[in-house]
Amino acid sequence: MKNKIIVITGGASGIGLAIINELVENNTIISIDRNPVKIASLKSTLPKVDSIKADVTSSGELDAALAHIDKTYGKIDLLINNAGKGGQFDFINTDEKKLMDNIAEEIAINYTAPIMLSKKALPLLKKSTEPAIVIVSSGLAYVPMSFLGTYCASKAAIHFVTMSIRLQLESLKIRVVEVLPPIVDTVLSKDATAYKMPPEKFAKIFLTKFSKGENVMNIGQTSGLEKFSRFLPKTAFKMLNKGGN
Ligand SMILES: NC(=O)c1ccc[n+]([C@@H]2O[C@H](COP(=O)([O-])OP(=O)(O)OC[C@H]3O[C@@H](n4cnc5c(N)ncnc54)[C@H](OP(=O)(O)O)[C@@H]3O)[C@@H](O)[C@H]2O)c1
Repeated sequence: MKNKIIVITGGASGIGLAIINELVENNTIISIDRNPVKIASLKSTLPKVDSIKADVTSSGELDAALAHIDKTYGKIDLLINNAGKGGQFDFINTDEKKLMDNIAEEIAINYTAPIMLSKKALPLLKKSTEPAIVIVSSGLAYVPMSFLGTYCASKAAIHFVTMSIRLQLESLKIRVVEVLPPIVDTVLSKDATAYKMPPEKFAKIFLTKFSKGENVMNIGQTSGLEKFSRFLPKTAFKMLNKGGN
């Protein structure tokens, strides 16, 4: 990919940062992040990246970010909705307020924000000759893990809406891609004990599939999970959770 104006959320760490590292040399990258420490680190390691401070759940902050992008670059070729959040789900032992706060945060970041930002970005995407939106969901959109129950539900929700948006944006010739990562070695997966794909490897696979024109990317273990979820859903649930009926 060359000479594209690329906007990515949560680009200051993990998967987002690995994708930026692959693209920064030949493209213009704008990263939207909310964490000032991470933003400072991104600015010092990759000064070429235009780093904007905004929380993806804030309509006003996204409007300000897009106004800057409009004024500075005039269009968006590729919008990558990558920012995400996931925490442990303990239905019995978490008090009700914390439980509901966690759910609200996961829904706001993983589900509502990609829809809101994609909608707000439409006028700028329409100015591109080859516009595309990427949604980073999860292999766990296919099969839930009990201890991540609400995170998986938020990813299943964005998985379904992405299919709707893809169909509806066909008329505008805007490509809509969903990438469903396996376990990738980032802060988000720090508690996982299974094999974790290095983020650099994940970014390379994602970009290869993107350039081949794939719109639904089941990467690594997600590929098997998707097949099990269709043909043997109960077995898939038991495999991930060591229980269930
Ligand atoms: N790692 C995995 O195993 C895995 C598997 C499947 C899917 N995914 C998905 O991959 C994406 C990237 O995750 P990752 O693994 O790279 O984790 P990560 O290193 O934690 O990266 C996520 C980034 O999103 C940022 N972010 C979160 N909420 C935000 C908000 N409201 N506004 C702006 N930025 C925000 C985070 O920063 P702060 O929270 O510090 O602001 C962080 O920099 C996520 O959507 C995740 O669900 C990851």
